[in-house]
Amino acid sequence: MKKKLLGTLLSAAMVMSLLAGCGGAAADTAADTATAAVEEATDTAADAAEDAAAEVVEDTEAAADAVEEAAADAGSSDGGLISIGFAQVGHESDWRTASTKSCQDVFSEANGYDLSFVDCDNDEAAQKEAVRSFIEQGVDYIIIDPIIATGWDTVLTECEDAGIPVIVIDRTIDDSDKYVSWVGSNFLTEGKAAGEWLKAYAEKQGISEINALVISGSTGASAQIGRSDGFKEIADREGWTILDEQTGDFTEAGGQEVMESYCKSYEGKFNVVVCQNDNEAFGAMTAMDNAGVAYGPGNDVILISFDACTAGLEDVKAGKISADFECNPLAAPFVEQVIQQLQAGTTPDKEVYMEEHWYALPDQIVDFSIDGAAQTMTEVTDDVIAAQY
Ligand code: AHR
Repeated sequence: MKKKLLGTLLSAAMVMSLLAGCGGAAADTAADTATAAVEEATDTAADAAEDAAAEVVEDTEAAADAVEEAAADAGSSDGGLISIGFAQVGHESDWRTASTKSCQDVFSEANGYDLSFVDCDNDEAAQKEAVRSFIEQGVDYIIIDPIIATGWDTVLTECEDAGIPVIVIDRTIDDSDKYVSWVGSNFLTEGKAAGEWLKAYAEKQGISEINALVISGSTGASAQIGRSDGFKEIADREGWTILDEQTGDFTEAGGQEVMESYCKSYEGKFNVVVCQNDNEAFGAMTAMDNAGVAYGPGNDVILISFDACTAGLEDVKAGKISADFECNPLAAPFVEQVIQQLQAGTTPDKEVYMEEHWYALPDQIVDFSIDGAAQTMTEVTDDVIAAQY
């Protein structure tokens, strides 16, 4: 179109210059013709300019759309920030507080993230609603720490249909694989570690009979299932008696309540208490203190705990908890790696296990293996406690 306009203007200019040398009526007619040609060319030029301007506007809009689309493709739909929805279990324990802080620290605005955090207060329905609200918001990624292991396929299908990658942390989902990655701990191994440690420690102490009381975590949570199954496997193999197992819901109040009832029902009949997290152990200690039950190394009752949070390790150091089996709450840096891999278009590992340690004081450190793999225990010192979460 631009080439045609130039041709018309050149032709008109040539006619005008030829006519400059002519005279008479013929010249007038020719001049009129030339003038009309120039006018037509001018109109055509104006039209072309209008068309060109419209084209520029269209191109600019298309370019803006393309930039927006590229930003969305790169997962940065909100001012360059990657938006994440995190449906957290609740706030039941020191471990949970450390997990929440880990996510809030890593997925901060300063690090390029826009984090929507929902504390689901241990309510399974509320957790699914939180996930659905993240879908409605159109976040770039969803992180779920599933309160219980089952009932997830429908809502994960909704995430998949919305094209939002889901990353599961800590507890596992057992009835759906519609998530990109899971980052967490091996709860079965933790339970076996407690059992194998108890076997080796009891042998060292010359204790031949084990009568254990278990205060389990929230029923149906994979952390509860794995720890219960792992410890029971060793107990069954060794012929120990598990007198009772009741849930303390991973809380201090729950641990105290269950232990108060155990102290009444099993007075003088137990020599091991297994609490499936530190907060339950804190509550159980209060109940045993009140009931006059002596626990810890050198006393009647061996107290075993899981998590190994700062306060738990302080109780190991104080000679109250005999051994504490770590569950690492600092998943967020690993989740960030998964997200960066997805951003780069690579496929992350489906399962990411975090490193964990088994803690005790020197007199309680014994050699043991899990499924043939020799374990190393970590001595609790002030430095170890200071470095813990
Ligand atoms: O899922 C991890 C467990 O949940 C931790 O052991 C416990 O403290 C938390 O509540």
